[in-house]
Amino acid sequence: MKILHASFECYPIAKVGGLADVVGSLPKYQSNLNVKTLVVIPYYEKSFVKQQKLKEVSSGSILLDNTDYNYKVFSISGDKIKNDICLIHITNLLDREEVYGYQDENNRYLSFQFALLDWIIKDELTFDVIHCHDHHTALIPFLINYGYSYEKLRGTPTVLTIHNAQYQGHFSHEKLDMLPAFDFKHVGLLDWYGSVNPLACGIKCASRVNTVSPSYMNELKERANGLEGLLRSESEKCVGILNGIDTDFWNTETDDMLVKNYKETTVVSGKKANKKELCDRYGFNVDLPLFGFIGRLVGEKSADLLPEAIRQSINEYKEINVFVLGSGHKEIENQLKQIKEELPGKFNAHIGYDEELSHLVYAGSDFLLMPSRVEPCGLNQMYSLRYGTIPIVRRTGGLKDTVIDIGDAGFGICHDQPRVWDIYYSIGRAITLYKDTDTFRKIQKNIMKIDHSWEKSAQDYIDLYKSI
Ligand code: ADP
Ligand code: GLC
Repeated sequence: MKILHASFECYPIAKVGGLADVVGSLPKYQSNLNVKTLVVIPYYEKSFVKQQKLKEVSSGSILLDNTDYNYKVFSISGDKIKNDICLIHITNLLDREEVYGYQDENNRYLSFQFALLDWIIKDELTFDVIHCHDHHTALIPFLINYGYSYEKLRGTPTVLTIHNAQYQGHFSHEKLDMLPAFDFKHVGLLDWYGSVNPLACGIKCASRVNTVSPSYMNELKERANGLEGLLRSESEKCVGILNGIDTDFWNTETDDMLVKNYKETTVVSGKKANKKELCDRYGFNVDLPLFGFIGRLVGEKSADLLPEAIRQSINEYKEINVFVLGSGHKEIENQLKQIKEELPGKFNAHIGYDEELSHLVYAGSDFLLMPSRVEPCGLNQMYSLRYGTIPIVRRTGGLKDTVIDIGDAGFGICHDQPRVWDIYYSIGRAITLYKDTDTFRKIQKNIMKIDHSWEKSAQDYIDLYKSI
């Protein structure tokens, strides 16, 4: 079986969040199950890309907005690249440093999809399934089914994975003529509530649709920024498949971003060394429980609640340390910077993206905060478990599917509402647990053994491919 993964992110080439981790690791595990995979992402103007071995494998041109754009396809290889990956280069359109955040982002998404399909047809590549990730590549099923230039691909089965239904990529009908000619009687498939909505169109046209956890699929049928009715009506082809993690890469025994490696039997001393490093760097008392947060500082992650929850917890409980690694809304970043000034030695933050530091935080924290309002799957809690760090989560989406509360004979701390008070209360429960050293250490050791590797879910995807 031969699968094409089309995505805008892939670790280690271009990562903004969990999408990169999934596209960077799922194909590797699928290869272990004898499935051939090819990942295709845009060519980014990043120093990492320039340090790898690139080989031009194809070229061609596409028409977008009455302009001809030449594209080139490069295969990329290097020590850190574990599977077959190709990059599509389009001068002045895809060759940017950042993945998202540009004014012309719709043109970027469209050009990538057009070039990818053009290349497949021109070079007569064949795939058993084209697997699209998120709205950036969600027009592919429609184009394959109804675009006149892509007739050769008609009938190729497609899977759309929804990593996050918050982002749907919609644009105005006025831009419809940017699409290559298609059978116009199907134009309605592009529309959802008065605009062209790539994610909605992908849900309608893909052979199968999945979310990255079962609970998130159920939640989306109730609330999905306007897509709930659509997901309900398409529910026969929809399923939830829980993400896995790359347990070779996220491995405390070999992770070279830690100051000390450890395993279950050495978790206490191992975590202590990593915690000490964090505490030395950020001015914390190593004896106090350390709460970490890693992630995008946006409403979905309840990052807007963090400043108040942190301030209240430190002021009331006193004997705790909190560290935040993340970036996002400027207002939240500024509030966190202010708390840094207010509560030195108790709170610190690194505003920005830092892969290496994130590993140290997973290893060196005692608890990881994930009070998300929405969490399609969440990988942080799985990394944290593997690193012996107890997750504190709001029961939603993938967090609900992966973390069981200590009160229910589980190993984490869970709350139901995205409110400051709930986060504060959960931190209180964590402090009590921390003081019960025997139970705390037993949980630390046990959670490291929980298996969240890709093995099962990689097979679930293969079963899904086989069903189409
Ligand atoms: P999402 O994709 O919604 O951001 P996930 O939990 O699926 O959430 O994945 C987030 C990924 O991004 C994890 O690998 C996490 O470690 C990483 N990450 C998020 N923010 C940062 C940051 N500021 N620095 C380093 N890694 C980060
Ligand atoms: C999205 C979601 C996150 C999920 C990730 C990978 O970014 O927000 O919950 O883990 O995709 O599927």
